Amino acid sequence: MDLNVVILAAGKGTRMKSTLPKVLQPLAKKPLLSHVLEISYDLKATNVVVVYGHGGEAVQSVVEKLHSEHTIAWVEQAEQLGTGHAVKVALPELTAGTQTLILYGDVPLVTEQTLRSFIESTDEEGCGLLTVQLDNPKGYGRIIRNSDNQVEAIVEEKDATDLQRQITEANTGIMLVNTALLQKWLPTLGNSNSQGEYYLTDIVKMARDEHISVQASIVQDPMEVEGVNDKVQLSQLERRYQKKQAENLMRNGAILADASRIDIRGDVAIGEDTFVDVNAVLEGRVRIGKNCQIGPNCTIINSSIGDNSVIHANTVIQDSSLGDTAEIGPFARIRPGTVTESRVKIGNFVETKKSHIDEGSKVNHLTYVGDAEIGKGVNIGAGTITCNYDGVNKHKTVIGDKAFIGSNTSLVAPLNIGEGATIGAGSTVSKDAKENALTVTRAKQITLSDWQRPVKKT
Ligand code: UD1
Ligand code: CA
Repeated sequence: MDLNVVILAAGKGTRMKSTLPKVLQPLAKKPLLSHVLEISYDLKATNVVVVYGHGGEAVQSVVEKLHSEHTIAWVEQAEQLGTGHAVKVALPELTAGTQTLILYGDVPLVTEQTLRSFIESTDEEGCGLLTVQLDNPKGYGRIIRNSDNQVEAIVEEKDATDLQRQITEANTGIMLVNTALLQKWLPTLGNSNSQGEYYLTDIVKMARDEHISVQASIVQDPMEVEGVNDKVQLSQLERRYQKKQAENLMRNGAILADASRIDIRGDVAIGEDTFVDVNAVLEGRVRIGKNCQIGPNCTIINSSIGDNSVIHANTVIQDSSLGDTAEIGPFARIRPGTVTESRVKIGNFVETKKSHIDEGSKVNHLTYVGDAEIGKGVNIGAGTITCNYDGVNKHKTVIGDKAFIGSNTSLVAPLNIGEGATIGAGSTVSKDAKENALTVTRAKQITLSDWQRPVKKT
């Protein structure tokens, strides 16, 4: 869509009581401003301008990293002289012959759908306001309508008469204005009002004076236009956002033990009839298949899990890909680069990293598998350690199909364990082990029958 979006983000956010600029405060682990940028890109805006002020450098570097595939025009508003002034400083960046949508860096929950219908219902040659009906509109600009229900003006709370303050239709601040009109009107704004600010809202009166249409669209869900001023509001919006994410997952077939005890911090898809127990934290891009069971307190980050898998309680999975019918945990730590094929079992207190584990292999207890290539049908006994690091370099352990590694084995990499090899429990293996043979490095067991236990000196 040929559309300018101007995001106002210059406010200090003093009430956040934080060293972090307000628009970098996290909602679902992502800066508030990032949410607003994503909405802009969802709308296919051709030009996105961010007006920044306090902490601007930090904002730019953080946000540009997160949206590196898009260009953002940054405009500094050194002094916060009002919303009208903020949009005015953005004027040189706007593409002419289009409409300009004004959004706010601290209003993160407005939806693409709401904005699309707002855009559709606004005259391209005029201006549109997104308004909201509030039981308690204190602090907001009020929408003044005439006897024909036409919008006449917006009056700020501080400039309003007692009668005007009783109006419950409030200005959300979100506006859509023909760009040429903004270019004409904004330089003429004055600041003779109770706050001495250049009010963006004054353009409504200008439009009326020139008989240009002003349409107000009332937003259905007031939470969508709620701003963040302090950490209480931030947590309210977070919960609200999470509720919506949980509902989406359930509508797509997931079963949640408690929709209020799941946290979605990214792009998450869960297959039909997969059950997610309480306190799951799902971050980044997560894909979970059908008919899985995710136990309580699991953290899954940027990973995929195949169908019919069971992830037991307290498992952490990151940057990994697990095949179908996996059984993982409880208390497993699947670190980056773990790839498993189908029917792999990884049990309690097992840590894996940068390893490929082929079909049907088992690593059931208290083991570290790092930089390893494990074949099919392998059994790794309890307490096995791949000694992959010599203090300088990492080395690889390769284990052939159907090998059996006895408990408490140290596999000193680089190392090859042949197919069908058996390693005796307690071995420290530093040379390649032959296929289909027993390798054991254990000290020989002896028995001293005439040995006596020491006794306490008197
Ligand atoms: C503004 C609207 C009011 C509306 C309310 C909704 C005006 C004059 N008033 O009031 O009608 O009901 O929002 O919340 O527009 N900002 C800048 N630079 C500035 C001033 C503000 O970037 O110089 C940004 C702030 O960071 C903030 C937003 O604009 O995100 C709104 O500013 P704020 O001062 O909170 O406006 P309100 O007085 O609440
Ligand atoms: Ca405000």
